[in-house]
Amino acid sequence: MHGTMQISQKGHLTIGGCDTVELVKEFGTPLYVMDEEHLRNVCREYYQAFMAKYPQSEVIYASKAFFNLAMARIIAQEKLGLDVVSGGELYTAMKAGFPAERIYFHGNNKSQEEIEYALKSNIGRIVVDNPHELAILEDAAEKCKKKIKILLRIQPGIEAHTHEYIKTGQIDSKFGMAIATGQALDMVKMAYAAKNVDLEGLHCHIGSQIFEIESFRHTAEVMMGFVKQIKDNLGIGIAELNLGGGFGVYYKEGDQPVPINEFADVILGTVAQQAEKMGLQIPKVIIEPGRSISCTAGTTLYTVGSIKHIPGIRNYVAVDGGMGDNPRPALYQAKYEAIVANKADASPEEMVSITGKCCESGDMLIWDINLPKMESGDILAVASTGAYNYSMSSNYNRLPRPAVVLVDNGKAEIIVAGETYEDLIRNDVVPERLWDNGKQLRTVSR
Ligand code: LLP
Repeated sequence: MHGTMQISQKGHLTIGGCDTVELVKEFGTPLYVMDEEHLRNVCREYYQAFMAKYPQSEVIYASKAFFNLAMARIIAQEKLGLDVVSGGELYTAMKAGFPAERIYFHGNNKSQEEIEYALKSNIGRIVVDNPHELAILEDAAEKCKKKIKILLRIQPGIEAHTHEYIKTGQIDSKFGMAIATGQALDMVKMAYAAKNVDLEGLHCHIGSQIFEIESFRHTAEVMMGFVKQIKDNLGIGIAELNLGGGFGVYYKEGDQPVPINEFADVILGTVAQQAEKMGLQIPKVIIEPGRSISCTAGTTLYTVGSIKHIPGIRNYVAVDGGMGDNPRPALYQAKYEAIVANKADASPEEMVSITGKCCESGDMLIWDINLPKMESGDILAVASTGAYNYSMSSNYNRLPRPAVVLVDNGKAEIIVAGETYEDLIRNDVVPERLWDNGKQLRTVSR
């Protein structure tokens, strides 16, 4: 139970003061539900732990986790910055009136068009991944007669896993240039020599869903060591250090997220200590959480359809969504918890597996979960689906993507409309010669 989730007297799950059974009647299933109060509370917790306490810090939301116009407005109102990784994410932010100077543009293979769009939009920083991009940016900035502030994506050689970190791994990565190979220092030299860019700082990101605070402490140390190397070798000062996102969240029993203020104190404390030890200026520290901002604010509601008991083997409970709206179990063996929203006060009675409706055996949402006696028509609520679910959803099997509804204080508002069958064929084009003569099907319009 996250955020504003409660169980009503009727035994129904409520989120943001809205009865989920009523939400389903109004909006149908599958349905992504976002808890606005919880979302804003997490943003405020980040703001307080970092920006309010350490004015030389900034929290930018990694929009890849969950993004649309309404989300952009919430992030803007909560005074956070924004990490975008594509022209599409940038377009969404600009259309939502997100303050451009608070936008950072990441990505390992930005196109010329994306770079020009970023320059025209006057965004705050471009995070340059490699020398090829630096050259494109230099030309584009020259053409636009603009100077652009950049960070360089550095590969610190730390591979963080959920339960461990390896100091030497990850040189083999498509992101950034490695310190260990000397290529990172070379790129710093190139950036410094480039006429149309201002080298403001460095960026790194060591992975996602990380619970080990030590991984972040170590990353801060390695990056400050590199700042010192730059100073010693090139005489260049580094003003900004972006240490990426990746803070772990609760999905299932055993997940123990580190409190946000602890993260802040460790990260900023380490940077300050290292600066003092090495006689460097303390740089501005930026972090870019995605999952830990939007994940636990999201819940997906499904309707149960067929139930199949295979004696002695497994009980399959099928819902009306699946890998189309949540590809994470199939992609990453991700684990989720769920409750039966219309029987939220009932005790577990049977072990079941929740399967989706896609034509793939791997389309499983939850392999084994104890739930009350399941019946067709029940509403299943799968928790912690606010990050990388909607944003990674697909139309596989031509299933329309579900709507996203924002709930708060008893009010439910659509922020992304559910797709219709019409939407599914909107971009389809039938060359004239494929229609059979005289068939009226041609009236299918674009
Ligand atoms: N910054 C950079 C440069 C990143 O690449 C990412 C995530 C983040 C920040 C945000 O990380 P977060 O705080 O959300 O962990 N689709 C996967 C997650 C991919 C994360 C990619 N990069 C999943 O569903 O688990």
